[in-house]
Amino acid sequence: MTAAPQTPDPRALATLAADIARTVGEQIRIARASGVEVADTKTSIVDVVTRADQHAESLAEASILAARPDDGVLGEEGAHIVGTSGITWVVDPIDGTVNYLYGLPFYGVSVAATVEDGAPGTMEDGRRAIAGAVYLPVFDELYTAWEGGGSTLNGSPLSGPTAKPLEVTLLSTGFGYTSERRTEQAQILMEVLPRVRDIRRMGSAAADLCMLAAGRIDAYYERGLNPWDYAAAALIAREAGADVRGLEATLPGTSMLIAAAPETANELHTVISTAYSSLGE
Ligand code: IPD
Repeated sequence: MTAAPQTPDPRALATLAADIARTVGEQIRIARASGVEVADTKTSIVDVVTRADQHAESLAEASILAARPDDGVLGEEGAHIVGTSGITWVVDPIDGTVNYLYGLPFYGVSVAATVEDGAPGTMEDGRRAIAGAVYLPVFDELYTAWEGGGSTLNGSPLSGPTAKPLEVTLLSTGFGYTSERRTEQAQILMEVLPRVRDIRRMGSAAADLCMLAAGRIDAYYERGLNPWDYAAAALIAREAGADVRGLEATLPGTSMLIAAAPETANELHTVISTAYSSLGE
């Protein structure tokens, strides 16, 4: 008789995610000192993959499978291993690759353990992170969360963004890599920018959501993210108390991810929704 798979302990998964994110993050930071080699491009000429992205993903994948051989792995640079345990690790080996290329500090490693059971917290891609970590090596900041356990920065609990009227909200966002997507994002930004305190563009969605969890920005939104960009960090933001949502009744994810304190999220949601309606969407 085969034993049923044991329910994983999210806290143990978060510890593993944190160990892997830190180890891989230290490696990419050290590798950066010897320069960056562009290995490929993806959706457009500006969407680059460095050798460090590829090595970092291989290291993360090997570390996950060494610890949990029955799990699946989905990575930005092509890892796609189907597991048998019910847990799939979603990995962004370097979120903020363009920052990494230019030597700007906002880049990091994102590692999340996800399940697909449709429970609350499920994102648009059908996965729900139950544990995750983001490590920003230049700042030596390790953000960790597990479902129901809150989120921490280097071990200290995070309390998330403070509710603010939109007009005094420091809002972060990001842009995709194709000119069609950017044209649309610029049109939405024209509606949003006059209504907020100011805009930040960190260049790493994972860092944006972690800054939100740490209360260093008040709100964040972006359209066009991939699951590896948000899997760990959306959990970290949510566990810190942020309202993480999509547009209208859609679950948060690729079509839209809005994150802020609930009252701020309501106001921002209305502005973004109206802006998209005026584009005919
Ligand atoms: C990108 C970053 C960026 C966001 C893009 C993402 P990558 O991820 O998170 O901030 O605006 O949408 O694709 O390419 O650096 O892993």
